[in-house]
Amino acid sequence: MKHDTSMNMANFNAKSITPSGFFGNSEKNIVEVENFLTQEEIDILVDFSKKNSSFDVNKTEYNENGTLIYDDNVWVNRVATTETLSKTGPEILVLIENIIKRFQLIIEDFFEVKVIPTGPALVRWPVGARQEPHADKELHEGPDAGTANAFPWYDLGTVFYLNDDYEGGELYFPQHGIEFKPKPGAGYFFPGDMNYIHGVRPIISGCRYTSPVFWTISKLPEKWTGPKEIKNV
Ligand SMILES: [Fe+2]
Repeated sequence: MKHDTSMNMANFNAKSITPSGFFGNSEKNIVEVENFLTQEEIDILVDFSKKNSSFDVNKTEYNENGTLIYDDNVWVNRVATTETLSKTGPEILVLIENIIKRFQLIIEDFFEVKVIPTGPALVRWPVGARQEPHADKELHEGPDAGTANAFPWYDLGTVFYLNDDYEGGELYFPQHGIEFKPKPGAGYFFPGDMNYIHGVRPIISGCRYTSPVFWTISKLPEKWTGPKEIKNV
């Protein structure tokens, strides 16, 4: 089974209708929505994440040129999505689905689109975990730059952050000179193409907990008027 961050079968292997670079390359498309989660939601998700020991099992993938497009090794024992959560935390699924529904309104308004979310996911980042700079929906360097990665339907990405009692783990966008420690309770969103390469600095101490969701655009604006003025990071 091919990996999907959500295992949302309704959106699995969806086709992207969004050309790479459709939203331009402005740093105004890297947006922070502070205090989006309630304290109760944060507490429940952190508590579950700390206790949870059931994680997705997936496979590393290569494209037809033999280029690595998805490396599962770095995600072992770290990611729990719909199928896993339905067994270990059905109430968590409902809670995250509610968060996603609320955030969908912000995404659809900002990008003037209709979107389909992947689905609930929780990720843990123990000491040493990191993410090398990448784009969410396509390869960004070498001869395969601009071609599909394992998730070409991840047109837009969002990450909700649950805690800050760890060191390291800064989110950075090397093309935009942006680097920061995400705030617990905030959601951050940006396009999935290679104008928005991003990475995560290694966790030095503690454990970082996040809940990512990706959006497949089902309807694009004829002419996008954005990016809107909204509080940015
Ligand atoms: Fe990413």
